[in-house]
Amino acid sequence: MAKLEQPVLALSSGLELRPWRASDADSLVTAGQDPAIRQWNLLVVASAAEAGKRIERMHERWQNEQSAIWAIAHPDGGQAVGLIGLGDIDLAGGSAEILYWVLPAGRGRGVMVEATKRLSQWAFDDLGLHRLRLCHSMANPASCRVATKAGFSVEGTMRSALLHEDGWHDQHLHALVQGDI
Ligand SMILES: CC(C)(COP(=O)(O)OP(=O)(O)OC[C@H]1O[C@@H](n2cnc3c(N)ncnc32)[C@H](O)[C@@H]1OP(=O)(O)O)[C@@H](O)C(=O)NCCC(=O)NCCS
Repeated sequence: MAKLEQPVLALSSGLELRPWRASDADSLVTAGQDPAIRQWNLLVVASAAEAGKRIERMHERWQNEQSAIWAIAHPDGGQAVGLIGLGDIDLAGGSAEILYWVLPAGRGRGVMVEATKRLSQWAFDDLGLHRLRLCHSMANPASCRVATKAGFSVEGTMRSALLHEDGWHDQHLHALVQGDI
């Protein structure tokens, strides 16, 4: 990854996955104020300055081969309307975890199913990973639907797996492996 430039991945809906830019800081601040993104992504962004630092860290983590995070945006300079990426990348072990959110105005149009399929294809075909996992709280049926529609099988329930504001949540473990798509 360190030798690769982070690619732009086109979506058939007309949106694209592209690297985050300093000018997307306001989108990250807006996301940090959305109750659902705060709840399910544990995202808290105190200021535009903090958002800017987070965006810088995304690029450092690509260089360090730790994570690969894209903005979901309209081409030609559109602001980020969502985020999707691979966290916890293990290049030697061939695995990573899919992470995502979309701002409220963009929800319910199939954006995240399409983005998840496109990123999975890139992770297998271009990055050479073998297995992708996707975890969500059992209390988040929208994320379960996205995972299922993107082809990620449910492999089980991880009990008390993640601490949210209201306590520990059980999580569904979904996964997609090379050959599933
Ligand atoms: C989860 C999230 C990413 C989905 O994004 P999206 O672009 O709206 O998803 P899509 O439109 O691709 O698909 C959503 C699917 O979930 C379904 N869905 C939405 N809300 C639902 C709910 N409360 N219960 C059950 N299904 C639900 C939709 O009906 C749709 O399925 P369908 O096409 O069969 O009708 C978005 O809602 C979001 O960012 N939520 C807040 C943060 C979050 O949950 N992050 C994920 C952490 S694991």
